[in-house]
Amino acid sequence: MKKRLRVVFYFAAIFLSFTLGGCYYDKEEVLYPKSADGCDTLDVTYTDNIIPIMVNNCNGCHGGSFPEAGIRTDNYNDLKDIAENGSLAGSVNYESGYSPMPKDKPQLQDCELKQINLWIENSSPQ
Ligand code: HEC
Repeated sequence: MKKRLRVVFYFAAIFLSFTLGGCYYDKEEVLYPKSADGCDTLDVTYTDNIIPIMVNNCNGCHGGSFPEAGIRTDNYNDLKDIAENGSLAGSVNYESGYSPMPKDKPQLQDCELKQINLWIENSSPQ
């Protein structure tokens, strides 16, 4: 009887270590650094991922000598400011209460939105 209990205990321990241990790496970004659509969501940084999106979609209006609405998207510090005050996410994700950006153009692609949102969540890594 004692022996059987011990066997049950071992099985329970093995079972638990598999189920609990299995959860540890169940993070999408860890398991699939590039998702099926080829979107790179691992280590999204300003230099590698965010600059190209801003250059292609935003800096034309939010750069130069007279940036629209006094908002600049063409340098790290100003972009970090609008990341922190919520207006970057609000505008590109078309949240109510914000002007949808990029203005008068289609919404950014899914991958670009994913990267911007991750970048904001991770406190704007350079
Ligand atoms: C064609 C010019 C143009 C482009 C391109 C553009 N913007 Fe704007 N943006 C504006 C103007 C003008 C405003 C002032 C609000 C308005 O007129 O809608 C503005 C406002 C904003 C605001 C403030 C929104 C609010 O409601 O507080 C943010 C943030 C912003 N833009 C970010 C961006 C980002 C990020 C991009 C690129 C994805 C972008 N903009 C592309 C012209 C542009």
